Amino acid sequence: MDDHDEPRPGHPSRKTVLRAALAAGVAAPAVLMGVPALARAGAASPGARPALTPTCDDGDDPTPPQMEGPYFKPNSPRRTSLLESGTPGVRLTVTGYVFGLGCQPMSGVLLDFWQADNNGAYDNTGFRFRGHQFTDAQGAFRLTTIVPGLYPGRTRHIHVKAQAPGRPVLTTQLYFPNEPRNATDSLFDPRLLMTVHDVSGGREAAFDFVLNVPQSPGPSPTPTTPPPGGGTWAVGTAYRAGDRATYGGRGYVCLQAHTAQPGWEPPTAPALWRAE
Ligand SMILES: [Fe+2]
Repeated sequence: MDDHDEPRPGHPSRKTVLRAALAAGVAAPAVLMGVPALARAGAASPGARPALTPTCDDGDDPTPPQMEGPYFKPNSPRRTSLLESGTPGVRLTVTGYVFGLGCQPMSGVLLDFWQADNNGAYDNTGFRFRGHQFTDAQGAFRLTTIVPGLYPGRTRHIHVKAQAPGRPVLTTQLYFPNEPRNATDSLFDPRLLMTVHDVSGGREAAFDFVLNVPQSPGPSPTPTTPPPGGGTWAVGTAYRAGDRATYGGRGYVCLQAHTAQPGWEPPTAPALWRAE
């Protein structure tokens, strides 16, 4: 039917090993040097297929995009937990890292999640089960939420937009393994399956994004620097939704509360700023 790379349980990709090492506090450059042999050994196992990968040769293609769907709303609150008191549903935490094409984790990546509630309904008037956050200094994120409910025509999924500073927005969806509707939902893509397991009191899921951001060995890409005479926009300013700033002679309206940093200049951050 397609040429998707099926997940290979038990055969960690370089990304997977990187993730484990990052979680253990090992410096990424050392990991990069020591891991490829292990990763390639896994990829060479019987039944494994070679992956077409721009930079990483172990199946770590950029995370594929998916349609936004009808329920995205800008201006979600900045928060890592979507739980509210009395929220019904099975508790779920989703953790992971955001990598560039060089398999290096990226900090300051905007992740905007939205999902259905326990009954399969989206909140289109408020912001229940909507929230954005930024990857931390290690490139990691953590989302606390519930397992989204099902609604007609779709399998279980979580929507997300991911954007590295100064880069285009990736809009995609994350899926749950062992869902009967995965077989009938035409949007379902096994490359977007989270790893999910049951824990006391709920479920834990993991997913690592690979954004189409070029990376060379060394530090993360240098963010773009603002041109002279940028306007009122300033690094370090805490902007709230609705705030206005000027940059390069144009006016912009803040869509999502955030603290400005290099690379998030209004013209290059459409998830954060709308030109007036
Ligand atoms: Fe949806």
